[in-house]
Amino acid sequence: MTTYGSEKIRKMTSSIFQEVVDRKQAALINGKDVIDLSIGSPDFQPPAFVMETLAKYSMDSSKYGYTLKGIAEFNEAVSYFYRQRYSVELDDNTEVLQLMGSQDGLAHLATVIVDPGDYVLVPDPGYPIYEASVTIAGGEIYPMPLLAENSFLPKLNEIPEEVLRKTKMMILSYPGNPVTALADSSFFEEVVAFASVHNILVVHDFAYSELIYDGNPQISFLSVPGAKEVGIEFNSLSKTFNMAGCRIGYAAGNSEVIRLLASFKSHIDYGVFYPIQKAAIAALTSDFSFLEDQLKRYQARRDVLVTGFQTSGWQVEKSPATMFVWAKIPAGWKSREFAFKLIEDEGIVVVPGDAFGLQGEGYVRIAMVQPSEKLEEAAQRVNEFLLGFPV
Ligand SMILES: Cc1ncc(COP(=O)(O)O)c(C=O)c1O
Repeated sequence: MTTYGSEKIRKMTSSIFQEVVDRKQAALINGKDVIDLSIGSPDFQPPAFVMETLAKYSMDSSKYGYTLKGIAEFNEAVSYFYRQRYSVELDDNTEVLQLMGSQDGLAHLATVIVDPGDYVLVPDPGYPIYEASVTIAGGEIYPMPLLAENSFLPKLNEIPEEVLRKTKMMILSYPGNPVTALADSSFFEEVVAFASVHNILVVHDFAYSELIYDGNPQISFLSVPGAKEVGIEFNSLSKTFNMAGCRIGYAAGNSEVIRLLASFKSHIDYGVFYPIQKAAIAALTSDFSFLEDQLKRYQARRDVLVTGFQTSGWQVEKSPATMFVWAKIPAGWKSREFAFKLIEDEGIVVVPGDAFGLQGEGYVRIAMVQPSEKLEEAAQRVNEFLLGFPV
């Protein structure tokens, strides 16, 4: 039989996510009442004024053309948002680029920066596009282990010198997915110094910048002195304003990298639908009370879920941020075995940690994308499940 797939697509295909979907399907067919906590797509709504703006401009027949790099007003709105929320000054002409979701930038940046044989340092575990983007670019991956004993920060001084000589880029995300840990300014300062010495572009994924709990500070990588000289940050309206399906996000920071990414994108897409841009502008320039309310709602979900688990003796750590819980599974289990048995026995769908890299073994990722009552029920069912296998 002819096989059409390239080596690249074979490298990129992750069977674990598909297996989770298949097992969820099987549970539904078997009549299980499924609670799906596997996918990070927000179940909360966007603010009403955002939807109204989208609806209003959708009725304007003159707004259906290509928008290319987007309207200047969007870049101004991003600058405003970054100044208000993270005390970062951005030149909206040269330091901001609109994207079709941050995934657009994350997927394409490596192709802009990396030649075959160049290395990219990626977090392990990490959000899957980090690795896939390097594969698309024909680059080499060096996984940086994110371990609990190191507060989930990479040990930069343990990266071999011969790798560093060939490294063009490093990817970080604090708070991230699946690892929800935060970094402090001193870590980011260390990263800036390290990147300057080794001539490495730093890419910081800040998609969960507005889901940081317990009054912890929201630290943009770009707020650290010297960051713009060595790096860029991706951000998005998907999680912040529940606009995931709208596909709008942005990159900010180093002007040369912004220019190169814009040039690359000019070959492959023609921009975001105008009404979506206007809706995003309305969100970014709002009074942000929506964000404060939403944060409280997610934090309440987190507390219900984690406290619920703890009653069975499963000592899951409270996430400091994001819409996920990165849960260390009870001893004696493998991630896939635990996740698949949970689907089969209880209809609770979570993602095995090794879907995100070798260091994810021993964990599962749980998305808080259901109302608190459902999360409480999910925790109860997990507790019943664990009674059969004493922790
Ligand atoms: C860490 C992280 N970065 C980026 C993205 C991509 O988001 P979007 O393309 O919707 O901006 C996601 C989506 O789940 C994510 O979890």
